[in-house]
Amino acid sequence: MSESTAFADGLMLAEVDGPVGTVVFNQPEKHNAVTVEMWIALGEIIAAMEADAAIRVVVLRGAGEKAFISGADISQFDKTRANAEVAAQHALRMAAGRSAVKHCAKPTIAAIRGYCLGGGLGIALQADIRIAATDSQFGIPAARLGIAYAFEGLRTLVDVVGPAHARMIMFAANRIDAAEAARIGLINRAVPPEALWSEVGALAQRIASNAPISIAASKAGIDMSLRDADERDLAALEEFQRRSLDSADYREGRAAFKEKRAPVFTGR
Ligand code: COA
Repeated sequence: MSESTAFADGLMLAEVDGPVGTVVFNQPEKHNAVTVEMWIALGEIIAAMEADAAIRVVVLRGAGEKAFISGADISQFDKTRANAEVAAQHALRMAAGRSAVKHCAKPTIAAIRGYCLGGGLGIALQADIRIAATDSQFGIPAARLGIAYAFEGLRTLVDVVGPAHARMIMFAANRIDAAEAARIGLINRAVPPEALWSEVGALAQRIASNAPISIAASKAGIDMSLRDADERDLAALEEFQRRSLDSADYREGRAAFKEKRAPVFTGR
C-alpha cells in the first residue's frame, strides 16, 4: 500500500511504497512547471526520504501523461527574476533543490514522460538514472529566453552528454526526442509509454534488493570521479570499503551465493 503526503499545497507529493519513495511534481495543468514553493518542497521531500531508513530508492516523476516537468514556472518570472538581485536569490533556491537531488544519499531514478524542458531537464540531470518514454521531448530553451545558463547546470550536462552534444543542446535550443536523447546518453533507456512505470518500478525494486552500502559506495565513487581532483574525498571511499567488508550484508551476500538463494540485505 502506498502512502502519499502533500507538500506545497499539493503541488508536490511524497509517495512511499515499500522501499521506493517517489517525488511527484504535481501541477499537470501547467505541465508540472516548478514554482518557488515546489523548489523548496523538493529539498524537504528528499531530506525526509533520506531520513527514512525503509526507503532505499528515490524515483522522481511528473503527474499525468503529458510532462515530466516543463521547466521553472514562467508565470512567476516577474516575481522570481524581476532583476539580477532577485534572480540571484531565486537561483540559490533552485540550486538548493537540484543539489538535494544530486547529493541524495540514496540512488535516484527520473521517470520521464512527455515534456522534460529547461529547469525540468535540469532536475532530471541530477538523478543517477533517467528512464524515459518514447514520447518524451527534451530541451533547454535558455537561448530562446535570453537566459545565461549557470555553470553548475552546464557542468552537469557536460558530465552526462559530453561537450559536443552539450553545445548542440544549448546553442540550437531546440527539442530532441527520446531516440536522440538515448543516442547521446542524455537518458539511459527509452521505453514505450505504457511500459514506463512498470520498467521503472522493476528497476527500483531490483536496486532496492541489492546491498545498500555497496550501492552508496558506487554512487559516492562515481560522483567523486566527476569532481576536480583536489575536491575528491578518497578517505570517504576507503571508509566505504572498510564498512562493506565488515558488514552483515557482505556475509549475507556470500552465504546466499553458496546456498543458491536470493540475498536479503539490511544495509548493515
Ligand atoms: N511555466 C508556466 N506555465 C507553463 C509552463 C512553464 N514552464 N509550461 C507550460 N505552462 C502552461 C501554459 O502557459 C499553459 O497554460 P494555460 O493553459 O493557462 O494557457 C499550460 O501550461 C499548457 O501549456 P500549453 O503551452 O498550452 O501546452 P502545449 O502542449 O501546447 O506546449 C510546452 C507545451 C511545454 C511546449 C509549452 O507550454 C512551453 O513551451 N512551455 C515553456 C517551456 C519552457 O520554456 N521552459 C523553460 C522554463 S525555464
